Amino acid sequence: MIKFDNVSVSFPNKNGKIVHAVNDVSFEIEDGEILGIVGTSGAGKSTLLRTVNQLQLPTSGQTIVNGNDIGNLSGKELANVRHSIGMIFQQFNLISTKTVAQNVAFAMEIAGRSREEIKQRVPELLELVGLADRADVYPNTLSGGQKQRVGIARAVANNPKILLCDEATSALDPETTNDVLQLLKEINNKFGITIVLITHELDVVKKICQRVVVMNKGEVVEIGNVFDIFTNPQHEFTKTLLLHTFDLDLPKRFTQENSKPLVKIVYNGDKAEDAIVSNVVKQFAVDVNILHGKIEYINDRPFGILIVQLIGEQDEIYKSLNYLSKNTYRTEVINERN
Ligand SMILES: Nc1ncnc2c1ncn2[C@@H]1O[C@H](COP(=O)(O)OP(=O)(O)OP(=O)(O)O)[C@@H](O)[C@H]1O
Ligand SMILES: [Mg+2]
Repeated sequence: MIKFDNVSVSFPNKNGKIVHAVNDVSFEIEDGEILGIVGTSGAGKSTLLRTVNQLQLPTSGQTIVNGNDIGNLSGKELANVRHSIGMIFQQFNLISTKTVAQNVAFAMEIAGRSREEIKQRVPELLELVGLADRADVYPNTLSGGQKQRVGIARAVANNPKILLCDEATSALDPETTNDVLQLLKEINNKFGITIVLITHELDVVKKICQRVVVMNKGEVVEIGNVFDIFTNPQHEFTKTLLLHTFDLDLPKRFTQENSKPLVKIVYNGDKAEDAIVSNVVKQFAVDVNILHGKIEYINDRPFGILIVQLIGEQDEIYKSLNYLSKNTYRTEVINERN
């Protein structure tokens, strides 16, 4: 388990002022989960993540990894904890003068693994990341996706319990990103490695994270289950961040039309939306005009969004809204009404 306990990190900047990069952050990351950290540039995401393997010491507070206060370890203890934490980066950070196999082997050498062990494990690792046939080539002959696969093989070479990913897919095209995410998911499943993933791509979070932490100006503003946060953000900053995730823009004539309620229905994929909408029409004296809709997949869990106009008498509309609220994940009126 990783535990951030009132972690703050400050830096003096050029003008002698203090920058509070991370400000009193406390939360826990469970073993085996895939947790995303999102936020705008400068929010303190990388700085917070770097306290996990002590690339950055907290100015105050503690980062505790598997029961060890990371800031309070002797050199040898710290080295051991570091070997149990793998890290991958946006720019891959491979050694250009070493082959693919040598890059992976190097991580094991510095962890003091025996030559026999390295000889046996490197091919297994390259097999795992789908690069068995590239063992003897140099990184500059690889595509971005392949480079990141080498990065992943290297990061998991010493059987870490934790894998830290800082914008690991940000330099990759969407298809390659998907492949790399699938690989991360597989590694998480197979070995139970905890994955902490910083990204500015909300799609990445939707695809593989179970929980997400939203950071703004050094602080955690929201944390929770990805499905809940994406479909029902509480904090203004999160709402703004997610504004364009479910692009369901309607022509202004609908949103400005205020005589009929414009209703956004968010339903959990387990419920059949058709039945809910047709039930409304059957049970109440209203017409339902469907204007927009889509099904999104968050962490493989489908959920639908439907935007409808309700047409009818005031009290029938009221009853319909009441029914929808009770039978959907969330129902909200999104136009200004008189
Ligand atoms: N070594 C440092 N010295 C001085 N200031 C730093 C240092 N590292 C980070 N900062 C400052 O701390 C703040 C948080 O930076 P950080 O890199 O953690 O943000 P981030 O959320 O990872 O941003 P990005 O999405 O751009 O990577 C920024 O204002 C940054 O300029
Ligand atoms: Mg960063």
